[in-house]
Amino acid sequence: MKLTFATGNSGKLREASEILGEGFELVSLAQVGITEDIPETGKTLRANSLQKAQYLYDKIGCDCFADDTGLEVDALGGAPGVYTARYAGDDKDFNKNMDKVLYELQRLEGEANMAASLGLKVKPVSRRARFKSIITLIIKGEKHMFEGALEGVIAREKSGNGGFGYDPIFIADEYPGLTLADITEEQKNEISHRGKALRAMAQWLKSQNL
Ligand code: IMP
Repeated sequence: MKLTFATGNSGKLREASEILGEGFELVSLAQVGITEDIPETGKTLRANSLQKAQYLYDKIGCDCFADDTGLEVDALGGAPGVYTARYAGDDKDFNKNMDKVLYELQRLEGEANMAASLGLKVKPVSRRARFKSIITLIIKGEKHMFEGALEGVIAREKSGNGGFGYDPIFIADEYPGLTLADITEEQKNEISHRGKALRAMAQWLKSQNL
């Protein structure tokens, strides 16, 4: 089955091709002549996922899907959430984005330590976080959504050379002590938010006998 993927992110495209495997031919935006950034102006991951898929469908009129992913950090009230790509600025610099998450958590921990040293009762700062991916598939003009999440904690510092985006600061519960950038791509795809959402999409497509 041929599907165009609404992403300019080479990391996402590589992972999706691996996860979907045989039976799916993924077409990139470049292959359909789309070079502009697809707008993402929604206030939720669902809205952005839908917006990206609809934008692509309106342009090419063929079966396609989009993925919108967010990182939620409990101690930051769920931030960066829908602003994950632009947390530290519009240049979408993933190093600056990771630095900001690490800095904000250290700042909160510093404040908590200070309060504790003054004899105040304080709750330890939680580093619990999760990635959430929402996929919108438009097939034969109809929309279908699929979700996946990955639970973990934010590391104290960056580690690893694999993956992309925030992977060097995210430690999944399944691999204690290792970030998503420390483990192999195969290991990440097996447990990841995107892996779960894409496998749900593939299973649904297979059940439809299209
Ligand atoms: P978007 O879904 O393309 O809007 O991506 C939002 C942000 O999340 C970008 O900064 C991506 O680099 C980051 N991101 C998306 N998926 C992952 C992932 O699997 N690991 C780490 N960062 C990711």
